[in-house]
Amino acid sequence: MIQTVRGVHDILPVETPLWQLLEARALAIFGQYGFAEIRTPLFEKTELFARAVGAATDIVEKEMYTFADRGGDSLSLRPEGTASVVRTFVQQSMHRQLPWKVWYRGPMFRYERPQKGRQRQFHQIGCELFGPAGPLADAELMAMVMRYLTDLGLQASLVLEINSLGCPDCRAPYRDLLIATLRTLVAHLCEDCQNRIERNPLRVLDCKRENCRATLANAPSMLDHLCAGCANHFSSLKTHLNHLGIPYRVNPFMVRGLDYYNRTAFEVTSTGLGAQNAVAAGGRYDGLVAQMGGTSTPAIGFAMGMERLVLLLNRETTLPSSTDVFLATLGERGENAGLLLAEAIRKEGLAVELNLSGGSLKSQMKRADRSKARFALMLGDTEIEKNVVIVKDMTLGQQQEIRWSEAPVFLANLCRVGP
Ligand code: HAM
Repeated sequence: MIQTVRGVHDILPVETPLWQLLEARALAIFGQYGFAEIRTPLFEKTELFARAVGAATDIVEKEMYTFADRGGDSLSLRPEGTASVVRTFVQQSMHRQLPWKVWYRGPMFRYERPQKGRQRQFHQIGCELFGPAGPLADAELMAMVMRYLTDLGLQASLVLEINSLGCPDCRAPYRDLLIATLRTLVAHLCEDCQNRIERNPLRVLDCKRENCRATLANAPSMLDHLCAGCANHFSSLKTHLNHLGIPYRVNPFMVRGLDYYNRTAFEVTSTGLGAQNAVAAGGRYDGLVAQMGGTSTPAIGFAMGMERLVLLLNRETTLPSSTDVFLATLGERGENAGLLLAEAIRKEGLAVELNLSGGSLKSQMKRADRSKARFALMLGDTEIEKNVVIVKDMTLGQQQEIRWSEAPVFLANLCRVGP
């Protein structure tokens, strides 16, 4: 038997309603903030990710699905969405229409070690906002993420963490200082951290190993070395969040795994997810558009892991049944009449499951139970002679005869009122 590739999963029909809920709420809530959906290709030239995400990042060095196409070009499945959106921004000269606000959803691919909440094909919902440089945009974007998560009922287990990564001007001297400090601590750091000291020293701060964390507890913090512009940006962001009443925690050790960030970085973590606890993550990338050949334009964005949201939702959400009416039929006449009646009821906008596999009335009523339909209809010879159908309210357990011709509107009215 051929099975799915490791770290890659089917999303089964029992789960898709939750995924659809996540997407529907994104459409509604991001729309309130002026974001429109964009759909970019699933694969791009490898060079796009190497240049945008950073050649020395784990994502580009170790995790991309890269292949040569038949023409010999090196292509990669997208490991994230920002690089493609920036490419579109530059390709379509969107700097003429600022602010440009887009959101996206879809699969991303990273060759990571699979574990709970971490797959090789996973899905993100993300947003990118181009144009505004000030902290107002950062605060509004965070308000939008938190509104989205609160709307899903998830706020209780979530923490918003923020940090500033400075700008090239203040980060360069800080980086030198950090490298000098790390060199003195090298013997106490794990192998990964040792390898990162010269190439990507900020990532060392992000190491999750207890030993490294303890060693780094007194390492110099970017927040103490921000230039005046970056310090003002960060302090205004905090003021805005306070005004909005959005709780947050400053985490000076949060360093993102992608190179394009400057100034604001943020993550929303959950206490309910174990090691892979980031539900949403993002930040500013004011230099990326120019770096990718476009007209210099500040930008900020984030992405949420849909699998992680589904894990959190699964525990707390019971979705309403998608079936309004189950139609049980007896005998050939019942089946023929049922086929027409089901169509007439669907025309009124209801979801009808017509029994398609015969069986006794008892077994059909079991199926009706399983379908969680609000109403079960029964149609056999007796009912057909009388031009009626039996309507059973599955919640109340009561049943009555309704004239066949009146049944669709009768049921539609009851379903519109709600249980
Ligand atoms: P990221 O932190 O790499 O950022 O990913 C964002 C979110 O995607 C994570 O917080 C997590 O919820 C989810 N995620 C990442 N990798 C996996 C995985 N292997 N399995 C399951 N979920 C995963 C970015 O991708 C940036 N593009 C975000 C951004 C947008 N920054 C600015 N704009």
